[in-house]
Amino acid sequence: MYVRNAWYAALWSQELPAGQMIARTLLDEPVVFLRDDAGRAAALLDRCPHRFVPLSLGARVPGDRIRCVYHGLEFGLDGACAHNPHGNGRIPPAARTRAYPVAERHGMVWIWMGEAAATPETIPDYGFLEGGPDFLLSARDRIVIRAGAELIVENLLDLSHASFLHDGILGSAATVAAQTEVAQHERGLTVRRWMPNVPSPRLFDTFSEHPGRRVDMWFDMNWQAPCALVNDVGATDPGGDRSRGYRILGAHILTPETATTTHYHFAAALRVPPGHDAAQDARIGRTLSEIRRYAFEQQDAPVIEAQQRELLRAGPDAPRPALFEIDAGPVRYRRMMDEMLARETRA
Ligand code: FES
Ligand SMILES: [Fe+2]
Repeated sequence: MYVRNAWYAALWSQELPAGQMIARTLLDEPVVFLRDDAGRAAALLDRCPHRFVPLSLGARVPGDRIRCVYHGLEFGLDGACAHNPHGNGRIPPAARTRAYPVAERHGMVWIWMGEAAATPETIPDYGFLEGGPDFLLSARDRIVIRAGAELIVENLLDLSHASFLHDGILGSAATVAAQTEVAQHERGLTVRRWMPNVPSPRLFDTFSEHPGRRVDMWFDMNWQAPCALVNDVGATDPGGDRSRGYRILGAHILTPETATTTHYHFAAALRVPPGHDAAQDARIGRTLSEIRRYAFEQQDAPVIEAQQRELLRAGPDAPRPALFEIDAGPVRYRRMMDEMLARETRA
């Protein structure tokens, strides 16, 4: 069961070059993405209504159409069959595949797969991925995690795991003792962690001229339902001003592929240290990309995937999980998602 009346990240803009068709399974549905002649992204149910062959196996043909590989029916980007090369050329009304609303914003193609009318004002805001004079950008990256999106959201809404799973990179024994606060807002949650006077984690040491010093550090996570997260991580000298020092804004954008596999898109913007130069920026950008990919792919993913396997083995009769203080964010998240699903089911 998915919340469907919401925008989901489909693919980074750079993953959809002009002239190509990209097939992706989202929310258990096959979708084909392409651009029209003007460069606008479009998305269709990747299933020919004739014999259910994926349209993505076919070809882009002039006039913003896809020609099915099997019997040559042609479809416009509104999903309707526009040409039948056989017999009298008649096109029955059922010769139509679904066209989804899409929007492209800040380097991401978003898709709306619900039945309700799409609401462009609720597209999650990742404007910081445009960069700017004070921020440099990591690569825009994606991995597939073999676990349900809800397990990854819970991982991100409880960053106490950074002290253990990402020990040495993002946290340490000293960062366990964080002051944590959960706030609910209209479309989601913010979970804040504040860690005064702790040893600087390697993530920041990599960029610093004074590695190993002590810092005040924050680790905040903002979640917008159902699957869009922004991580605000930073460090200053103890007692320092939060508007200075290091700060990384991280995009964590999840899209269920199936109930137990998830596309995990990530990218980050780092506030550049004063006196930086282009060569240094390039090195820092690379390091930031590499550390983040390593943490998510080599540290988070194996644990969350193992958790998913155990949940499947335990089955529906499994006992309720034991809950602790650190679960405040995940518990509220589950409650809000249950409410959203209930609202959609009633509607
Ligand atoms: S299956 Fe597509 S044209 Fe026949
Ligand atoms: Fe993590």
